[in-house]
Amino acid sequence: MRKKIVAGNWKMNKNYTEGMSLFSEVLNMVKDEVMGNQQVVVCAPFVHLHSLTALGKGHSQVSVGAQNVHQEESGAYTGEISASMLKSLDVEYVILGHSERRQYFGETNELLAKKTDITLKHGLKPIFCIGETLTERESGQYFNIVKSQLVEGTFHLSAAEFSKLVIAYEPVWAIGTGVTASSDQAQEIHAFIRKEIAIKYSQAVADDTTILYGGSCNPKNADELFSQPDIDGGLIGGASLKSRDFVDIAKVFNS
Ligand code: PGA
Repeated sequence: MRKKIVAGNWKMNKNYTEGMSLFSEVLNMVKDEVMGNQQVVVCAPFVHLHSLTALGKGHSQVSVGAQNVHQEESGAYTGEISASMLKSLDVEYVILGHSERRQYFGETNELLAKKTDITLKHGLKPIFCIGETLTERESGQYFNIVKSQLVEGTFHLSAAEFSKLVIAYEPVWAIGTGVTASSDQAQEIHAFIRKEIAIKYSQAVADDTTILYGGSCNPKNADELFSQPDIDGGLIGGASLKSRDFVDIAKVFNS
């Protein structure tokens, strides 16, 4: 059965001290309150990762992720971080292709295919983000956009490689806006994504792929979104900055 995941994306928020206390709160709350097989992932700024993986040791239900990685092994790329560096810190997940990376840093599907390769090569799990802008949704092009992001970024992988990915559908118009996709809108796209995976790989691979929803997800709407058959959890921005809200979202999967 595919994994249920609630992943937080802190983005460029929280200084070191704030980040450590937020993570400690999350660890304690998860230990006391999260009952089930759901995985909780915290994707924090690079400079926090070493301390977070140390703090999180022994808490198997909570994993640490990065928000980006460079596509090359190593070399003269001043200011960049490699997959092997992340792996050496016991980081487990890496968000790839977040819409903010696509929009502000010009990340293309072609570049993201390379980032996916290097991430997998080093035994890290990509959380691969796809999603349409408001204009693309209003023009009715959203199925094509989402499909081309998926195909160009990930469909060069073998089935065995693809099986290591987590996909996150994040409509750009819902990120940080307070406007959430309705559960029907999200389910429609999630089912479409799963169908495309089945066509490319197999029904078994599609059935095993965790597909997260992201975009203004909060403790009030998470239950309805996560109860859709093809929504396997969330990628949480704003609400992951408050331990109470974030853990309440993770508790939706309590069994
Ligand atoms: P949001 O961000 O929950 O603040 O909308 C989601 C994301 O960007 O991953």
